[in-house]
Amino acid sequence: MYLVSERLKLVRPSQTKVMTARAAELRDQGADVITLSQGEPDFDTPSAICEAGIRAIRDGQTRYTAVAGIKPLRAAIGEMLRRDRGLDYGIDQISVGCGAKQVVFNALFASLDPGDEVVIPTPCWVSYPDMVALAGGKPVLVACSELDGFKLRPQALEKAITPRTKWLMLNSPCNPTGAAYSRGDLLALAAVLHERTHVHVLSDDIYEKLTYHADFATMAAVAPDLFERTLTVNGVSKADAMTGWRVGYSAGPLALIKAMNLIQGQTSSHTSSISQHAALEALSGRRDHIKEFVRAFLERRDLVVAKLNQAKGLACRVPDGAFYVFPSCAGVIGKRTPDGKMIETDSDFAVICSTLSPWLSCLAAASWLRPISASPMLPRSRTSRAPATGSSPPARAS
Ligand SMILES: Cc1ncc(COP(=O)(O)O)c(C=O)c1O
Repeated sequence: MYLVSERLKLVRPSQTKVMTARAAELRDQGADVITLSQGEPDFDTPSAICEAGIRAIRDGQTRYTAVAGIKPLRAAIGEMLRRDRGLDYGIDQISVGCGAKQVVFNALFASLDPGDEVVIPTPCWVSYPDMVALAGGKPVLVACSELDGFKLRPQALEKAITPRTKWLMLNSPCNPTGAAYSRGDLLALAAVLHERTHVHVLSDDIYEKLTYHADFATMAAVAPDLFERTLTVNGVSKADAMTGWRVGYSAGPLALIKAMNLIQGQTSSHTSSISQHAALEALSGRRDHIKEFVRAFLERRDLVVAKLNQAKGLACRVPDGAFYVFPSCAGVIGKRTPDGKMIETDSDFAVICSTLSPWLSCLAAASWLRPISASPMLPRSRTSRAPATGSSPPARAS
């Protein structure tokens, strides 16, 4: 008997994890590698948040919590959504999980029946299609062209919807393109969804705070008629440099949140009690650090985009938000390397880059080079410590 389930044949390992492992391998061989794979800020978690975590331990907040998360944290999330977005959720319509990743998975697992379709605009976060498949659904990938700013257009959405469509997944600003949907963009998509009442919206707002010049917009707020059909997902990983604390949350229809809690109750139970207290501090504190982070990311974005655009054969659009760049390497396809090797695909190019420049490890995804995240080329907020993952080397000066 083969022990691993048939279901897992549909799921590929996370490519960002593969790339991170490859970087570690190169490092073990003595190469000085900067890994630009995982979407992880290189800042340390702000000290007030860490202190809240330490305080929680000292105060004995170390036991099981409610499955949906501690009440003060859910109340703070509700308050923030009301204040910042005008969205009104009862505390039972909010659920906290082990990062936005688990929250998205819970939502899909709670809602998808075999064959249900999920429309995913691409380029997308690499985990979405696999999570959909793992939950028994069918990912329907809709390509969004660079000419459209890598954003889903209403006509394309209309074409992708079938009677089996259960979700449209939106991620703005987007991993990996950095594209941010404006209020107008969302209204145009909402017009398509208005009559198609069987379609729900999963709005992954994890990069909400990392927008540069555009105003952030989210579907539940922009289209009140879709409020009942929208699950808004967010978390503290990116905006508060808390990737390792594993706190994400969602707000949405009560029945869905209850179903998500049921899954969580039978799997992880909840995220760490200590992390929840730290996240409470993050969300109810001043969050002044976000301004600093955004300023640093913006500076890095401009540097990296300018450098990429100076490279022959590469072209890079300026991302509106998040901390990725998504350059096209179309201009090098068909060219040869100095040792005569033909570059036939973007993957070839990425692999060749990592051999030519051992300090650069990158990954290709569907005709585009994948991300350069949180570029460690500029000085970090603190220079004395290696990034928290331990997988990256200390920062380099540019
Ligand atoms: C679009 C998107 N959603 C969700 C997540 C998961 O974030 P978390 O660390 O909260 O699980 C990521 C992480 O890279 C992401 O890029």
